[in-house]
Amino acid sequence: MGYLSSTLLSFSALATTAFAIPDPICSGACTGSIRDPAVLRRNDGTWMRFSTEGNLRIGTAPSIKGPWTTNKGEDGAMLPGGSKIHLDDDQRLWAPNVFYKNGLFHAHYSVSTIGSQNSAIGVATSVTGEPGNWTDHGSIGLPGDKRWNRIDANFFQECADCKPYLNFGSGWEHLFQTTLTPDLLKWSGEEPVHIARNKTLPHGSQTYPSINEGAFQWWVPNVNGHKYYYMFFSSGACCRTPKEGLSPPGEEYKIMVCRSEKVSGPFFDKKGRNCLTENGGSLVLGSHGDVFAPGGQGLAHDPDVNRVALYYHYVNKADGTYKDYRFGFNWIDFSSGWPEVVE
Ligand SMILES: *[C@@H]1O[C@H](CO)[C@@H](O)[C@H](O)[C@H]1NC(C)=O
Ligand SMILES: *[C@@H]1O[C@H](CO)[C@@H](O)[C@H](O)[C@H]1NC(C)=O
Repeated sequence: MGYLSSTLLSFSALATTAFAIPDPICSGACTGSIRDPAVLRRNDGTWMRFSTEGNLRIGTAPSIKGPWTTNKGEDGAMLPGGSKIHLDDDQRLWAPNVFYKNGLFHAHYSVSTIGSQNSAIGVATSVTGEPGNWTDHGSIGLPGDKRWNRIDANFFQECADCKPYLNFGSGWEHLFQTTLTPDLLKWSGEEPVHIARNKTLPHGSQTYPSINEGAFQWWVPNVNGHKYYYMFFSSGACCRTPKEGLSPPGEEYKIMVCRSEKVSGPFFDKKGRNCLTENGGSLVLGSHGDVFAPGGQGLAHDPDVNRVALYYHYVNKADGTYKDYRFGFNWIDFSSGWPEVVE
């Protein structure tokens, strides 16, 4: 081993052990319950941010870094007054997943009540993505099943004419994948494929297995000669406060990933564990410093800097309430074959 390579080796060993996990990046409107964000850059360069609270609140910024601006009233909502889907008087809308295709923003969103399988995935479209410009198309028509919950939709399509996939799922048996009709407004009728599940009971008082939810699929065409599909998801307890009893360290919400060379799996983690049958999943970002329970994540490519952002919500331990979900992101790098938070 030459001088240069041994220097590089010790540098990278240092990098993995000694560098602190970077803080979330965000400026402007980064607090005030921005949960389950979806972020993308519009063709004119404006960054758009969609999130759960406030009937799918919309924010905008000149850069993914901010400064973000948003209107907290109904005039900042994607669907002021709610969805045309009616399941329950106490239903809520959450977890918008937004992408741009065929000249339209498409948002798949969840309608549910906490902890119930009485749920639906709805879809809305818009030309501009701005508040007041959305048309709600209602439910995609995915049928219910005792294995899955119809929430946390994530659209994935590798090329313009490729199959339009929809990942979804949460409690019960966790993550599934199906497909949409070509207009992306309805379920195709294809039987969902089971993608990932965690059957492990957490230590502590919880009597049901740790939940995998909030799937977000991403692909990289060439990583060291391989084409990889990455399934990011959130795992653990999403939203417990000190009053309800925080989950034991490591069992709170965190961002995990599994990888496959095929779009529908099987997916494996870094240790080679199958993510469906062996409770697999590798940590991408967990709690660190004042950042607690990061999750509800997604990824976006920033063409201005040619980097990929991993964005998410988290709570700041220092504020003590564990209720104010904040928005932030970090740059990630796939060159090792696995996503690493680098800055
Ligand atoms: C959205 O904005 C576009 C462009 O200004 C306009 O043509 C369209 O009618 C608007 N749609 C709705 C539903 O407001
Ligand atoms: C599976 O659940 C256990 C228990 O909560 C947890 O410690 C582990 O991190 C989870 N694994 C994944 C991949 O989410």
